[in-house]
Amino acid sequence: MKPYDIIKKKKEGGCLSCSEIESMIQGFSKGDIPDYLMSAFLMAVCLKGMDDAETKDLTQAMTDSGHKVNLASIPGRKVDKHSTGGVGDTTTLLIGPIISAAGIPFAKMSGRGLAHTGGTLDKLESIPGFRTGLTEEEFISQVKEIGIALISPTGDLAPADKKMYALRDVTATVDSIPLIAGSIMSKKLAAGADVILLDVKVGSGAFMTTLDDARALARALVNIGTLAGKHTRAVITDMNQPLNSHIGNALEVKEVIEILKGGRRDSPLREVALELSAHLLQMAGVDSTLEEARSHAADLLQRGAALEKMRQVIKAQGGKDAVLDDTSLLPRARVIRDIPAQKEGYLGAIEVMKMGIIARDLGAGRVRKEDSIDPSVGLVIHRRIGDKITSGESIVTVHGASEKSIEEVRESLLECFIVLDQPVEAPPLILATIGS
Ligand code: URA
Repeated sequence: MKPYDIIKKKKEGGCLSCSEIESMIQGFSKGDIPDYLMSAFLMAVCLKGMDDAETKDLTQAMTDSGHKVNLASIPGRKVDKHSTGGVGDTTTLLIGPIISAAGIPFAKMSGRGLAHTGGTLDKLESIPGFRTGLTEEEFISQVKEIGIALISPTGDLAPADKKMYALRDVTATVDSIPLIAGSIMSKKLAAGADVILLDVKVGSGAFMTTLDDARALARALVNIGTLAGKHTRAVITDMNQPLNSHIGNALEVKEVIEILKGGRRDSPLREVALELSAHLLQMAGVDSTLEEARSHAADLLQRGAALEKMRQVIKAQGGKDAVLDDTSLLPRARVIRDIPAQKEGYLGAIEVMKMGIIARDLGAGRVRKEDSIDPSVGLVIHRRIGDKITSGESIVTVHGASEKSIEEVRESLLECFIVLDQPVEAPPLILATIGS
């Protein structure tokens, strides 16, 4: 069938066969199908959707478009986790050390921040000397040796996704559940783990802003993983406020280090990281119930086993592990300024996406992939939803490269905090689990 006929079939609400989907993805990957035809195909999928079988076939075709990592030589069940993206979301830097301290290999390929979301690689690279560009051989041998490696993708994983994502970005076709699910899972399947845990974010800082949409995405992700023979589960977690009080690369690493050292016991980041770690421990067969897994994860964190793993991984990847003993060795911004609240009341909501973009504009993230970032800059938020706000008190501290850069974001930053007269209830952090 010609691309024209496949597009027409989908536009009319038809169900595409595996070979029709493969021919679109392969043709586009090889450059035989031009952007204008793929754009029309993506729009048809966006408007008419795809059923489970089509979504699975789309994902498989995208996975097959590039390199697949083979983790078979690492003994044991290999686990992977993925967040659909948020602000102040640094759970990987806690989950990895916790999981590997429990004896489960954590062979993790992560991404960089884009748009309003941060990326694990950028955060790790704020540790002086930390190298994320390992070869696949180095990656596998490090996981065999110390049980953990945190790196950038070694080969071209799911290159069809890269090309399709670039088109989706400019043709208003990002917000489609089968396209998002296919994009995420094609990279996860190519990365080779046996167990996949998905952290599906919902709220003002997430792709999915309603719980119904988050459930639908979670179901699609779990279906794809299960049909591909992977033990897959999704946990839906809140992104109506940043998970961390710290936003920005070195700032987020600093908060992680404090948690690894047993501090910040009431931190939402700590709570979500422990919950996700517990799911992984249970899925990997280390603990038989989620309850047991929760106390196991908390114990590994509290007795310093996860901190020790973090030290090992930083050393193994060339980083300065002294940052764990003295966080002032992390990059520090030139100018640090408190921004006082201008209104009395209760924090009712936070415009998370806007806040992520402000952090990016300060230099913590990039607009284009090739932009460089400043690891030292970012925000520290002092209030969470439901908290009382007193006029004149510092609601957020800005870490900037200059006075000017801070002045430029002051007004829009204050607009991110919606202050109400009546108290509101803080949203729950963990909302639902999808999958076995
Ligand atoms: N993350 C991805 O990797 N792809 C999407 O389409 C959306 C979020």
